[in-house]
Amino acid sequence: MNRYKIVSLVLAIALLASLTHLMVSQDEGHGCAKKCSAESKSGVVLQNILSRKSVRSFADRPVSREQIDTLLRAAMAAPTGRDMRPWKFVVVEGRAEMDSLAQRLPYAKMLTEAAAAIIVCGDMSVTDSHGKPSTNWTFDCSAATENLLLMAEAMGLGAVWTGVHPYEERLVAVKSALGLPEHIVPLNVIPIGYPKGEPHPKDKYDASNIHYNRW
Ligand SMILES: Cc1cc2nc3c(=O)[nH]c(=O)nc-3n(C[C@H](O)[C@H](O)[C@H](O)COP(=O)(O)O)c2cc1C
Repeated sequence: MNRYKIVSLVLAIALLASLTHLMVSQDEGHGCAKKCSAESKSGVVLQNILSRKSVRSFADRPVSREQIDTLLRAAMAAPTGRDMRPWKFVVVEGRAEMDSLAQRLPYAKMLTEAAAAIIVCGDMSVTDSHGKPSTNWTFDCSAATENLLLMAEAMGLGAVWTGVHPYEERLVAVKSALGLPEHIVPLNVIPIGYPKGEPHPKDKYDASNIHYNRW
């Protein structure tokens, strides 16, 4: 074998080895893509849940209709008893309306800084096959609220659940301010905006709250 043939053979072997290496590492890459994305999805979700906090101070920055729509999409993905979806969502954006609501609600003064507010309401006109309104509407609207709060966190927005139902004076204040019909019951008012400062989540994990039962 002359020198030229030896060099060609060595080069061919090297090329084959590189191709084999590339194919193996691509295969591993695909395996990881499947496994790692499943792991990172749960990691991302947990991180978002653990990062959520009540935000009560807001920057002077607007929130778009698209952002509000995304929050409402997340809210309406919540589970509801017998899939009744007994809810309505009222969006308030005007400065005058926000300030007027803040004046009427001593525990929601942050409305004066927020860009918008969503009022999560139970709809008593949504009835079952016996013509009865949902007995689960507070749970259903609470699940929708938590979805909305988590979505706000994921979008870099701040929000806080301020309670309305079951406090009579708050119910009257919100219903009259918004001109709500009798069958629409506000559960809460959620001021929304870009957080001012760097609010931190609380670490609430407490192992003493967990009981593993066996029998
Ligand atoms: C049913 C309910 C009612 C609440 N009402 C108010 C309220 O009126 N005003 C307020 O500032 N925060 C209110 N919050 C927010 C709580 O104070 C807050 O979730 C709690 O302090 C825990 O803090 P975190 O949300 O940052 O984890 C309410 C929360 C819930 C679930």
